[in-house]
Amino acid sequence: MKLWGGRFTKEEDQAVHAFNESLSFDRRLYRQDITGSIAHAKMLAKQGIVTAEDRDAIVAGLEGILKEIEDGTLEFMSEYEDIHSFVEAKLTERIGEAGKRLHTGRSRNDQVALDMKLYCREQADEISGLVKELEQVLLRIMEENLETYMPGFTHLQKAQPVTLAHHTGAYFEMFERDRGRLSDLRKRMNQCPLGAGALAGTTYPLDRDYTAQLLGFDGPTCNSMDSVSDRDYLIELLSALSIIAMHLSRFCEEIILWNSNEYRFVEIDDAYSTGSSIMPQKKNPDIAELVRGKTGRVYGALMSLLTTMKGIPLAYNKDMQEDKEVAFDAIDTVKNCLKLFAGMMSAMTFRSDVMAASARNGFTNATDAADYLVNKGVPFRDAHGIVGQLVLCCIERGIALDDLSLEEYQAVSPVFGEDIYDAISLKTCVEKRTVAGAPGPQAMKKAIEACRARLEES
Ligand code: ARG
Repeated sequence: MKLWGGRFTKEEDQAVHAFNESLSFDRRLYRQDITGSIAHAKMLAKQGIVTAEDRDAIVAGLEGILKEIEDGTLEFMSEYEDIHSFVEAKLTERIGEAGKRLHTGRSRNDQVALDMKLYCREQADEISGLVKELEQVLLRIMEENLETYMPGFTHLQKAQPVTLAHHTGAYFEMFERDRGRLSDLRKRMNQCPLGAGALAGTTYPLDRDYTAQLLGFDGPTCNSMDSVSDRDYLIELLSALSIIAMHLSRFCEEIILWNSNEYRFVEIDDAYSTGSSIMPQKKNPDIAELVRGKTGRVYGALMSLLTTMKGIPLAYNKDMQEDKEVAFDAIDTVKNCLKLFAGMMSAMTFRSDVMAASARNGFTNATDAADYLVNKGVPFRDAHGIVGQLVLCCIERGIALDDLSLEEYQAVSPVFGEDIYDAISLKTCVEKRTVAGAPGPQAMKKAIEACRARLEES
């Protein structure tokens, strides 16, 4: 069933049809396609290009098709090439002549560009909403764990004590930037390509501002050739999704480590874990591993489209049909990952006792011991050396800095006094970090307020 049969003398080969068609995957654009066509028909009538009766027949016909697709009574038939041909053919079947007038002043090239933009715009909003829901979960974890001490790491080695609130807050910031990226790219994509025609606009007196306005765009696109060959908005979306996937993956990696027998910082809820078919003792963090693993296919979609686009001359080329499957897959994947990850986080148990015990060994308070000496007038470099010696002596004996006697401290430096023990306690180490952005509960409370305000703002 072809829109372009007139010029052709031979029937299309089956294999060619199967290779060329996109209905099997672009059917998911049916709503955007129908919405765009309704706006186009209204504009055509307003400009006197079709009659009001034709417009009414078209709008009613399209609304009927939409309803039937939605309630499952109208099936997509594989003989159609794509969603655009399918909807137009069904419309003409139902309303006759008027249906054949719908495509006046339009090409599938500006039509598909419109459909994809409408779809991406909606998806950017939906994904942003899912990121926000995840941030709400993280914010709750932050509020509840202002004093849950844990080791902060560099090089995966214990470095300085932080809190679970602070660690979680780092991811909150990442996801805030992700929402920012989605809203930026949404603004940039929000221009309507309809009216660009195949590539060079059209001779009909279209009102592009009107269609743009009907469809909620800020205005029409500026150059008709760019309009039909631009997929930057999709590349931007995929790159924002890749960054979200990367953030989720990093967090999953930590959860997997924390859930291991070696760390035991957290326990992933049974609902988000699976067992082993052979080893009865196992409870595996499959969901976290899958979210981490799925990052690959999201990056893959971005690389795929960048590569598809890199050699395409202006304007539309069929290569661009390859944007859809990978983009749809990446969008579905990231949405699923966000939902599952948020669920997993909100059901997770944090073992504050294990975290604090871990922060207590591994010399996370060594910097604070050095700072103690600095506050008593010792130059930092000397203080670093003195504490280094003490650490070495502790390592040999398998104890912590807190376990050394005052005599042992004073044997290395007479500057040490009884107050060293309080100065290097876990609580002091964290509480003294009051500088903006640091884990001290005072600073963290302010940070949390700011986080909440940002969530309420947008
Ligand atoms: N299915 C096509 C796509 O996804 C629609 C545009 C087809 N235009 C054309 N002239 N073949 O890109």
